[in-house]
Amino acid sequence: MDFNILCSDKTWIKLFFLVWIFASSFTNGNWMYLGMSSVAVDTQQTEKCNTVPGLVLEQLDLCQRNPESLLCVSEGARQAIHECQNQFKFERWNCTTSQNYSVFGPIMTKGTRETAFIYSILSAGVTDSVTRACSAGNLTDCVCDPTNDGKNSVEGWVWGGCSDNVQYGLHFSRKFVDAPEVLKHQDTQSVRNKMNIHNNEVGRRTVRDMMRLRCRCHGVSGSCEIQTCWKSLPKFSTVGAKLKEKYEISIRIAGRSKRKLRPKTPKRHRQARTGRKKRLSKDDMVFVHKSPNFCTPNPIKGILGTEGRLCNRTGSGPESCDLLCCGRGYNTQVVRLTDRCQCRFIWCCYVDCKTCETLFDRHTCK
Ligand SMILES: *[C@@H]1O[C@H](CO)[C@@H](O)[C@H](O)[C@H]1NC(C)=O
Ligand SMILES: *[C@@H]1O[C@H](CO)[C@@H](O)[C@H](O)[C@H]1NC(C)=O
Ligand SMILES: *[C@@H]1O[C@H](CO)[C@@H](O)[C@H](O)[C@H]1NC(C)=O
Ligand SMILES: *[C@@H]1O[C@H](CO)[C@@H](O)[C@H](O)[C@H]1NC(C)=O
Repeated sequence: MDFNILCSDKTWIKLFFLVWIFASSFTNGNWMYLGMSSVAVDTQQTEKCNTVPGLVLEQLDLCQRNPESLLCVSEGARQAIHECQNQFKFERWNCTTSQNYSVFGPIMTKGTRETAFIYSILSAGVTDSVTRACSAGNLTDCVCDPTNDGKNSVEGWVWGGCSDNVQYGLHFSRKFVDAPEVLKHQDTQSVRNKMNIHNNEVGRRTVRDMMRLRCRCHGVSGSCEIQTCWKSLPKFSTVGAKLKEKYEISIRIAGRSKRKLRPKTPKRHRQARTGRKKRLSKDDMVFVHKSPNFCTPNPIKGILGTEGRLCNRTGSGPESCDLLCCGRGYNTQVVRLTDRCQCRFIWCCYVDCKTCETLFDRHTCK
């Protein structure tokens, strides 16, 4: 499936507002359900933003001022959820969602590194889709980034075409995605609020920092007398891969931070603390709670366990049966795959094929 469709593209629109599927208990601030495939946002309905449940005041306000933006939020969340599942398909936790309002389920109640990844990729997803919509001329509040229009670069090329307006995407995502975490009184903000905002920003900065220059040549065929260049968004899957790397090296922060978030000091370091302090960078993904091992099912915590998961017997990564099955071992099944093969073209006009059978082993966790 092509997830690079614009949030405003006509192909996008099969529009119903299926919220009645969901439990009536909408907690304000859970807008992520807008990315579930069972939800579609009605463009007509968005004029009445009040009918969209789960939004906080600031989000309602943004929706009312620019109803199309809600389609972008929905499309951004959708591509983020898809990318999360793609990045985690070989992990014990595989970014499972339930087709209901809770989306990622009870794992969201703890500030683990998985939660950190979810926040950052959803924020990145909204940044991406809003920015793409700007370039398509589909949001009333923004257009292509005009900053460099017509200017010459030091290297001799000319700024031209439509540079993706990531500044607007960032701005929108900060307002919309961060809204549920930004409380009136700053000092009532919990560490979780701060953690979420921090990780939202990690997602946005990743999109921004991966913007690439793209160029086109003009002039007599093949010559490149004039070159025009513009800034372009990265493919969203590369953003996903980058955030996955950040997840791997994410930093645990202290559970009580009065003002600024700071890294948790491991116990064994506390005595022999050296002069240099570890600083938190705006690019570090952060978490508060240790993750469970995700090995055994625990419905209350929203953990499915890894029984039945496909694994790789010879691999050594997270998809290896060793790691994925948590030492429980695996079952092997011989799978028969039939396919068309040895095809010949017969004049005229058809293709004649044989049917071939291949056997291979399929391993699943016990
Ligand atoms: C923007 O999106 C709307 C709603 O999907 C669509 O009807 C309209 O044609 C789009 N406008 C442009 C300029 O692409
Ligand atoms: C959402 O779905 C999951 C499984 O599909 C279920 O366990 C959970 O209770 C549901 N939550 C709500 C709020 O309906
Ligand atoms: C994730 O793993 C569960 C089993 O633990 C499986 O049922 C589900 O299909 C997987 N989801 C994805 C998106 O791979
Ligand atoms: C399993 O892992 C090995 C080594 O990484 C790889 O060559 C092989 O293609 C993998 N098999 C499957 C079925 O993914």
